[in-house]
Amino acid sequence: MLRSYGRKMKLTRLLKPFKKVNLTNLFSMRINEGVNTRSLTTYYDTKDISLEKEIRTNMLVQEDFLSEDEEMSLFNEVDPYMRRLRYEYDHWDNAIHGFRETERRTWNEENQKILNRVKEIAFPPEVPKLAYVHILDLEKKGYIKPHIDAVRFCGNTIAGLSLLSSSVMRLVHDKDKNKYADILLKRRSLYIMKDAIRYEYSHEVLPEAESKFKGQIIPKDRRISIILRNEPNEEDTK
Ligand code: OGA
Ligand code: MN
Repeated sequence: MLRSYGRKMKLTRLLKPFKKVNLTNLFSMRINEGVNTRSLTTYYDTKDISLEKEIRTNMLVQEDFLSEDEEMSLFNEVDPYMRRLRYEYDHWDNAIHGFRETERRTWNEENQKILNRVKEIAFPPEVPKLAYVHILDLEKKGYIKPHIDAVRFCGNTIAGLSLLSSSVMRLVHDKDKNKYADILLKRRSLYIMKDAIRYEYSHEVLPEAESKFKGQIIPKDRRISIILRNEPNEEDTK
């Protein structure tokens, strides 16, 4: 049974801060790329300086995290199952349109290695991870409406791999809709959102008609995301 991560739920309580995930090296790699290339490769677009700072601390996107072979390997393992499901259009909470999804606990050896690599980057070793990995298959016309993953089902960190297609994720502050950013999720990239970005901002994946980043059209196609989460904070499960 899918828990669907209670996308409808809003953040209603204070959360114990988790140990910081050390992303410093990955961030400084980008910074060292130099101003010109950096401006071309920056994965976020926002006018809000405080949000920019928040993103640089709590939302990482690593381009080309997966090689083409790795993308294919993950796809080959999940696709035969996904193909048997039907795309859904009116989910009970209406957060996602044109999707099918499942959860998977066991993976072939090659894919397990890839997922371990995600875990190493996204979560400190002592942090308990959800045993089930979430697989979300969005059709070309599919999209995800703004939501915050329920604190009841998921801890401070969400890590996602994008297969088959690039897309644009929008973050909007839960209490101040003028505070927003677009995040470019390229095909084969890894994103990690945590802490303030995970709890205080809704996230959404834009539909085809709005799929633009810095004014440039980002063509959408079928997209499969493979999402790892950590266990919820104990006080949020009560
Ligand atoms: C979700 C979600 C994002 C993605 O399933 O809750 O926000 O990258 N997915 O598919
Ligand atoms: Mn979500």
